[in-house]
Amino acid sequence: MTLSANSEALGLPLAALETPALCLDLDLYERNAQRMVDYIVRQHGLAWRPHMKGQKAPELAQMAIAAGAIGVTCATLYEAEAMAAAGVESILLANQVVGERKLARLARLARRTPGLIVATDSAVHAGMIAAAAEREGVIVPVLIEVNVGMNRCGAAPEQVLGLAQTVSALPGLRLAGLMGWEGHVLSFDDATKQAKIEGAMSALTAAAAECRAAGVPIGIVSSSGSGTFRMAAPQPGLTEVQAGGGVFSDLNYQKWGLEHDFALTVLTRVASRPTPTRVIVDGGFKTMSVQHGLPLPLGLEVTSVALSAEHGTLELSAPSESPGVGELVAFIPGYTDSTVCLHSEMCVLRGGKLTGVWTIPGRSESR
Ligand SMILES: Cc1ncc(COP(=O)(O)O)c(C=O)c1O
Repeated sequence: MTLSANSEALGLPLAALETPALCLDLDLYERNAQRMVDYIVRQHGLAWRPHMKGQKAPELAQMAIAAGAIGVTCATLYEAEAMAAAGVESILLANQVVGERKLARLARLARRTPGLIVATDSAVHAGMIAAAAEREGVIVPVLIEVNVGMNRCGAAPEQVLGLAQTVSALPGLRLAGLMGWEGHVLSFDDATKQAKIEGAMSALTAAAAECRAAGVPIGIVSSSGSGTFRMAAPQPGLTEVQAGGGVFSDLNYQKWGLEHDFALTVLTRVASRPTPTRVIVDGGFKTMSVQHGLPLPLGLEVTSVALSAEHGTLELSAPSESPGVGELVAFIPGYTDSTVCLHSEMCVLRGGKLTGVWTIPGRSESR
């Protein structure tokens, strides 16, 4: 079954696309990726391991690696499998994989992809990975996730050494280092954010120092995202940065202080003009996420944006005949991460023309 006819629009301008369509401007993507490489790799000498949880398309992993990334970070086993299938060799699966069948798949993926590293934050969980690894006859490299203040997953800093010693002693595992994620600092003003990032990074690097002092080698110290890396990268002790979504940017990243171009948009068409100020487009909340804020229509002055399932309702700030029925309206997503996963394909444009239609891997092996 053909998911959409957009692959038939290859080589054609934007106006040829079926809507709603998730569109990536490759020139802007490349400019953003280059900014991240310049800052993280060139200026601060760190490795860049962009998080793919929001980007999804394996083609973007290959482009990031070509630009200077050492590999990628993933949130799910499915993403990691999709990246590995596309030939990505170094993958950090920065979540705790649980459940016997998934752990078996993780071990199989580790066999196929020696550069796979996976997170753990407890002896119980580490034991589960170790058991799956032993059954598969592989050694799985792991990072211990440290709670640097986000209070999601992560071992408390004072528990890290004990856990590192446990992991090092488990057959089937190889301790590759530590990771954190300072996601709790994103919405603070700059001064508070700076102080909180310094606190988070020093919790992580102090745990690494404690392990090393006790004779437990720690290679990788990985953390940081698109809303924090500008303040985190200069902190001493990090070895790599996981910032990913900044290659797209969106209204959230902008709010969190990132000054990148908006490379990803959602293209819709006007489906109805019930009044001189009301514009109805053919994309709603099944096309554009409302998580972390509404999308912004480009080039229109509006007083409100509302999304129902397959409709977007815009109120123009002044009566106008434009845009008319059938005309295009592009939106900057509020949050690209929760928007990309609503789509099964990404239309890739350069110079305003469609150059590719990429499949977005879903949450099961079959997609
Ligand atoms: C483990 C981890 N690292 C890094 C990030 C930052 O990712 P991004 O740069 O795509 O916002 C996140 C975001 O949720 C995360 O969960």
